[in-house]
Amino acid sequence: MVDRREKVWLVSVLIVLVILLGSIAYALRTGYGVASEAIVLPPEKAPGLFQPGVKDLGGGRYQVDIIAYQWGFRPSKVELYNPKEVVIRIYSIDVIHGFQIVGTNVNAMVLPGYITTIVWKPHQSVNGTMLAICNEYCGIAHSAMYMEIVIRR
Ligand code: CUA
Repeated sequence: MVDRREKVWLVSVLIVLVILLGSIAYALRTGYGVASEAIVLPPEKAPGLFQPGVKDLGGGRYQVDIIAYQWGFRPSKVELYNPKEVVIRIYSIDVIHGFQIVGTNVNAMVLPGYITTIVWKPHQSVNGTMLAICNEYCGIAHSAMYMEIVIRR
């Protein structure tokens, strides 16, 4: 005979287990995950293959390729006209950096040897000069490492 208090604990544990496994199953089913991915690009192959700059893909889509280095981003400023979707690709040529557009959910680590890719869909209300900063300590001038993303509507 199972004690009443034992039954309460058994049922409580089962409920927690069902919630836990249920949320994992839900997340897998709906494709939840981090909003970035990394592509391997060995440093010796990077020159020539990875060129910093903005590509207009048409229809409000842009690809922005950025090089992160001690201590800055190349290009240091980009301008986008009425962007709907921005594919941001960042490559570090030295150490681990971060890339965060202040006030948005764009926030990724930039590891040397990998292209970090982020797909950013800036809300219509996003307008003007956005500040992108490095948020991983990367040396003496880490705090001066930033770039500007100018959004025009
Ligand atoms: Cu780059 Cu901190």
